[in-house]
Amino acid sequence: MVNKVGLIGWPVEHSISPNMHNAAFWALGMTDWSYELVPIPPDIVGKSLRTLRDEGGFVGVNVTVPLKQSVMPYVKPDERARAIGAVNTIDFRDGSGTNTDVMGFLDDLKANGINPAGMNVLVLGAGGAARAAIYGLARSSAKVTVVNRTIDRAREMVTELVATAGIQNVTVEMLDDAAEQPIDLIVNCTSVGMWPNVEESPWISGVPFPRGITLYEMVYRPESTMLMHQAISRGGHVIGGLGMLVRQGAAAFELWTGKAAPLDVMFEAARQALVAKSK
Ligand code: ATR
Repeated sequence: MVNKVGLIGWPVEHSISPNMHNAAFWALGMTDWSYELVPIPPDIVGKSLRTLRDEGGFVGVNVTVPLKQSVMPYVKPDERARAIGAVNTIDFRDGSGTNTDVMGFLDDLKANGINPAGMNVLVLGAGGAARAAIYGLARSSAKVTVVNRTIDRAREMVTELVATAGIQNVTVEMLDDAAEQPIDLIVNCTSVGMWPNVEESPWISGVPFPRGITLYEMVYRPESTMLMHQAISRGGHVIGGLGMLVRQGAAAFELWTGKAAPLDVMFEAARQALVAKSK
């Protein structure tokens, strides 16, 4: 019998998760495992989950846009998923839902030698990725300032995170005010600069980019974004988003299989898949 896992979302075709996970299964000789893409329209989430679990032979699934919130009523979300308000990994064996984006992000910061405790961190964005980053940063004792194109969305997000996760040390500001304060680390959680809009940056021109900071860029396609160029030109240090993508996948892999994820294999498969998609 094949142990199936996969990705649900709408659409899912762009994903490189099958490349990462299937390469990992192959490398570990797990020939009875496979990772599949499962497009699911948003209006039939509950029924689809039951079908995958009861008839599809699925052990679990990753969840992507726009289903990360809508799967919540059908699973038992853990503390982290409840706090963020989004599930990205489901285990059908116990019905649990978690969010491995937080682990992926924090693990990748650590792998890059960054300990956010006590750091002044500027988070750009107020969507699901920003929620995971802010939760992880605040739990790691960083001082977080959030800016977002739609400032009210950022305010609502922080109010919710304070209520659900009890986080502290998070404020919302306009970019020009935030840029005048001390910043050690900037985390881009917006989708601005993502392929094909590679000429765009979430850093509004006219606001001077801070000197000598570290930039964590969650966008991984292209490998080097306009925002990364801005940071480098101001003497900054940059980290691209591929590490977070691979590490959130690795965390899901370990949850489903109980085996240590072969990180190097997953990194290499992800890089190759991105190159192939760029052609
Ligand atoms: P995700 O779940 O991946 O974080 P999302 O919920 O769609 O995705 O959030 C995308 C983020 O990118 C938001 O912060 C969004 O800003 P708004 O809240 O104002 O929509 C930000 N974003 C997307 N396109 C943008 C643009 N052209 N300029 C500035 N911010 C943008």
